[in-house]
Amino acid sequence: MKKIIVTGGAGYIGSHTVVELIEAGYTPIIVDNLCNTSIQNIKGIEKIIDKKIKWHNTDCTNKSAMDKVFATEGKIEGAIHFAAYKAVEESVQNPQKYYDNNLGSLKVLLQCMSDNSIKNIIFSSSCTVYGMPDVLPVDESALFKKAESPYGETKQICEGMLKDDTCNSVALRYFNPIGSHSSALIGDCSADKPSNLVPIITEVAIGKRKKITVFGDDYNTPDGTCIRDYIHVVDLAKSHVKAMNFLIKNSGKHAFNVGTGIGVSVLEAIKVFEESNNITINYTIGPRRDGDIEQIYANGSLVKSKLGWEAKETLEQAMISAWNWEKSKK
Ligand SMILES: NC(=O)c1ccc[n+]([C@@H]2O[C@H](COP(=O)([O-])OP(=O)(O)OC[C@H]3O[C@@H](n4cnc5c(N)ncnc54)[C@H](O)[C@@H]3O)[C@@H](O)[C@H]2O)c1
Repeated sequence: MKKIIVTGGAGYIGSHTVVELIEAGYTPIIVDNLCNTSIQNIKGIEKIIDKKIKWHNTDCTNKSAMDKVFATEGKIEGAIHFAAYKAVEESVQNPQKYYDNNLGSLKVLLQCMSDNSIKNIIFSSSCTVYGMPDVLPVDESALFKKAESPYGETKQICEGMLKDDTCNSVALRYFNPIGSHSSALIGDCSADKPSNLVPIITEVAIGKRKKITVFGDDYNTPDGTCIRDYIHVVDLAKSHVKAMNFLIKNSGKHAFNVGTGIGVSVLEAIKVFEESNNITINYTIGPRRDGDIEQIYANGSLVKSKLGWEAKETLEQAMISAWNWEKSKK
C-alpha cells in the first residue's frame, strides 16, 4: 500500500481526496494543524471508510515538526499539498499571513521531500492563476495575468517554486469546487466567511442570511451575470488519484485544469439550486464586486487525454449535496 502524505487532508477538498485515495488502494497520511477546519472531518472520514485514519496534528511550516512526521512514517511514495489559507478578501487585508503560510508550507514540504528522496508532489493550484483569460475555454498554455489578490499570487509563486525544484510535480488548477460527499459526513468546515456563490446560497436557504446579492448583471454574458465552472468536489478529489497514478509513471512538471468545461452564470446556478432542492432563494441584483472577473471555464482536453479524468457528477447532484451538507451542520 503506497503511503501518500496529504497536507491539509482534514480540510474541504483534502478530506474528500483522502476518501478517494483509500478507495483506490493508497494509504493517505494526513498532516493538518486544524487551523481552518474541524476534527469533525477526520471523524467523518473514519465513518465513511469504517476504520481509523493516520493523522498528525502538525503545522506544515514547522520544519522540525515536519521532519518528525517523515521520520515516523518511513517510506512515502508522494505528497498532495492542500495546506494553505484560501480566503481571497482576507489575503488583501493581511497579505503577509498568506505569503507566510502558503509559500512557507510548500517550501518546508519540498525540503522534507528532498531530504527523504521523495519525488512526487501534487499541488492545489487554482484557475485564479489565469486572471481573466483572453481565450475561453481557457487551456493550460494561457499566460498568467497579474494576480488579482495576494492569495492568487501565492498560487502563481508556488507553481514557480515547483518548476524550480527537482521534484516531479502536477499542479492541478481547480475551477470552482462545490458540493460534498453523498454521506454529508465531510465538507467545508473552514472558519472563513463564505464569499463563493454556493455556500452563500445554502446559507440563504437555511436562514443564516436573508438574501443573496448578485454582484452585477451588466457583464458581457447572456444573462449579464458572471460565469464560472462549478466542479463537484468528489470529481475534483478523484482527479488527485488520477494525478498520483500518472506522476508515479511520468516524471517531470505538469499542470492540468480541473473543471467541467461548462460555464454557468450566477443566475443559472441559483435556478439549478432552486429546482434541484425545491427551495426558493431570495436574491437581489447589486453593483459589481471589485476583483470579480467576467467569466472563466476550463478547456479540459489535456487532463482528459493525459490523466483519463473528466467530471462525471452533474450540477444538480452537486447542488443537492451542498444543501445536504448545510443541513447536516445545524
Ligand atoms: N475551495 C476552493 O474554492 C479552492 C479553489 C482553488 C484552490 N483551492 C486550494 O485548495 C487547497 C484546499 O482548499 P480547501 O477548500 O480544502 O481549504 P480548507 O481550508 O478547507 O483546507 C485547507 C486545510 O489546510 C490546513 N492548513 C492550513 N495551513 C496549514 C498549515 N500551515 N499546517 C497544517 N495544516 C494547515 C487547514 O487546517 C485545512 O484543513 C488550498 O490550497 C486552496 O487554496 C481551493
